[in-house]
Amino acid sequence: MVHQEVMPLLTPFKMGRFELSHRVVLAPLTRCRSYGNVPQPHAAVYYSQRATRGGLLITEATGVSATAQGYPETPGIWTQEQVEAWKPIVDAVHRKGALFFCQMWHVGRVSTNDFQPDGQAPISSTDKQISPDAEPGMVYSKPRRLQVDEIPGIVDDFRRAARNAIEAGFDGVEIHGANGYLLEQFMKDGANDRDDEYGGSLENRCRFAVEVVDAVVREVGAQRVGIRLSPFLDYMDCVDSDPAALADYMVRQLNKHEGFLYCHMVEPRMAVVDGRRQIPHRLLPFRKAFNGMFIAAGGYDREEGNKVVTDGYTDLVAYGRLFLANPDLPKRFELGAPLNEYDRSTFYTQDPVVGYTDYPFLDEDSSDLTANDA
Ligand SMILES: Cc1cc2nc3c(=O)[nH]c(=O)nc-3n(C[C@H](O)[C@H](O)[C@H](O)COP(=O)(O)O)c2cc1C
Repeated sequence: MVHQEVMPLLTPFKMGRFELSHRVVLAPLTRCRSYGNVPQPHAAVYYSQRATRGGLLITEATGVSATAQGYPETPGIWTQEQVEAWKPIVDAVHRKGALFFCQMWHVGRVSTNDFQPDGQAPISSTDKQISPDAEPGMVYSKPRRLQVDEIPGIVDDFRRAARNAIEAGFDGVEIHGANGYLLEQFMKDGANDRDDEYGGSLENRCRFAVEVVDAVVREVGAQRVGIRLSPFLDYMDCVDSDPAALADYMVRQLNKHEGFLYCHMVEPRMAVVDGRRQIPHRLLPFRKAFNGMFIAAGGYDREEGNKVVTDGYTDLVAYGRLFLANPDLPKRFELGAPLNEYDRSTFYTQDPVVGYTDYPFLDEDSSDLTANDA
């Protein structure tokens, strides 16, 4: 008998009380197909296409309130209608045997008045607008700096969204503390210019995010809560002068909650060395300082994913663009099969099929799920 080594990415892992059968995680991916901020039946097809027994999926970023939006047709989880709409989607994923976490976000100033109730200004840590060159072709509106006495209300929005996510059947929630959105606008000194108890020192800047973590943990239990952080990115003008200190401070706050499930960190931007993209692999100190499970994301392929799991650099690896374009990514990794190319032009379009549920499977038979099957 030929002895075949199981590749590290496809080995089982115990994530708190959850048993994973492999380490290939679907990264949160905004898809702009939830009309009127309500998740749609076609999302059940999309997510269940990517579900495997013992796999972990994270939803696209999902709004915690009416002020949380900044992109067209993104889902929410603050109304009962949204909760009810998520239920069949979560069920479809569970029927395939996968775990499903809901990523909860508030975009803060990455928005325009058009997305806001009554055309008001988006809210933020600051009243500084995102510079026009942060994202070519996009002009974000001038935000309104949150007053200190408004912050508990936003913390409570995250708490309620987490409760709603559990009611919708999700296995847990991921707090979106990354990529330049509201929590990062407070955390990073490039965006936070406050001089009250939510600005200035690292402790003050992280206070809002820590309050959200504490409230969500109290509401649904630490064993159901993860967070996504991107200390090294500068997306949407959110840059910090000492990202390592920021990351270290945050993981130590997470450690205060016994059993806090996971820390999901995004790698610094990739550099190209000798024609090959190089992942900087600078997250190890925070993985070591953190007591829970670690997910790394940003630029991984099959080879790099296997390498970092073997090296103990991370427990799990989240795949964004590759999983978007390859619904059967774990199987393709297992077989060493070629991958579909992703089509950037359809990342954020609103079609319920094109660029969404129409990427082919290796075995085409399993791709013809309909909303009813799912
Ligand atoms: C279309 C698209 C949508 C994304 N939406 C989200 C999101 O909703 N939440 C989030 O935290 N990151 C989001 N990201 C970032 C990805 O989760 C991931 O970190 C990034 O794509 C890098 O990983 P990759 O090289 O495996 O694609 C998005 C990325 C893409 C390409």
